[in-house]
Amino acid sequence: MSGLLDHLKQQISADGAVTVANYMTECLANPEYGYYILNEPFGVSGDFVTAPEISQMFGELLGLWAVHQWHAMDKPKSFNLIELGPGRGTLMSDALRAAGGLPEFMTGLNVHLVETSRRLRGFQKQVLNPFSPSWHDEISSLPDGPFIVIANEFFDALPIHQFEYTEHGWLERRVGVADGQLAFTPWPSSFSIEADVSSVGQPRIGDIFEVSPESRQIASELAARCKLQPGCALFIDYGHSRSGFGDTLQAVKAHAYADVLKTPGDADLTAHVDFEALAKSAARAGAIAYGSELQCQFLKALGIHERTDILSARATPDQLAQLKSGRDRLIGGDQMGNLFKVLAIASPDLPPPSGFQVNA
Ligand SMILES: C[S@@+](CC[C@H](N)C(=O)[O-])C[C@H]1O[C@@H](n2cnc3c(N)ncnc32)[C@H](O)[C@@H]1O
Repeated sequence: MSGLLDHLKQQISADGAVTVANYMTECLANPEYGYYILNEPFGVSGDFVTAPEISQMFGELLGLWAVHQWHAMDKPKSFNLIELGPGRGTLMSDALRAAGGLPEFMTGLNVHLVETSRRLRGFQKQVLNPFSPSWHDEISSLPDGPFIVIANEFFDALPIHQFEYTEHGWLERRVGVADGQLAFTPWPSSFSIEADVSSVGQPRIGDIFEVSPESRQIASELAARCKLQPGCALFIDYGHSRSGFGDTLQAVKAHAYADVLKTPGDADLTAHVDFEALAKSAARAGAIAYGSELQCQFLKALGIHERTDILSARATPDQLAQLKSGRDRLIGGDQMGNLFKVLAIASPDLPPPSGFQVNA
């Protein structure tokens, strides 16, 4: 039995079933047994591959996006470039290489990384040391000043609460123990979701509704900063443009789906991001939300085809094949292109960010 499984069973027997949000937090971030604390999840030998690890063009295009935003903010002499959940630091490293041709941008830049995993901070330090980054456990400690935030596959790792529609109304889905195994169990709700579900439609018995208060709080806090200073944030993740019913909690181990409750702490645990909820939280706090846009549309608008052509001109046949397969994975409709969405939030007086066609 894994240490985390033992720990969870003891907690449940002492205090009762835990929320799905608590369960996710324990699985991903328990200081002794958490998935991100102990595992090396990225890459072919890990559990999953993220966009910046698939192609350098992903980070490069986001670097150019950041330069565009910096121009739109009237080129502040000092500004904060912030990444939430930087993983191995690949995205930021590619972004800064692409932006490196612009000395004014590079001189004014202060890099801030919001990262809870001490182990991943080590990787980030290796590739980003020349830019003297500062690390933060949470966004509340980020400094004031003009800012640009990038977050790729960050919100999917944040805890969600799940609710199930039953003949007694909405009940929270918690994780308890039945027959010695972890099992989902209905429980009185820890907070009301009536206002959220009323705009989604009429639920049927068995429907699941998911809420991530932590994600909403982060979108809202960044939006509040956008009201006080020139700022913008770009959120990229897999998820849905509109709030809806459905169970999206999933565990992934070695590039395959695993049982969510079987091996806590051993598999990555994520949920689809509700982009409508993030956009609404940001708008309520005073920012303008743009999108969400499909990742394929966004990357095409930023020039992924043109970037492929430029890099192809100097590529060996192997590199050329890699460039094209990377691009196709990022924008292919049956790969990441449609599943992943992009949402931007920005200060009300800034123009629409590049890559977005319409206001939400
Ligand atoms: C799926 S990885 C994505 C990494 C990277 N953005 C990429 O695209 O390769 C999630 C990242 O978010 C970090 N993370 C997860 N929960 C976090 C939290 N609550 N606060 C800060 N970082 C968190 C993880 O340690 C990891 O760096």
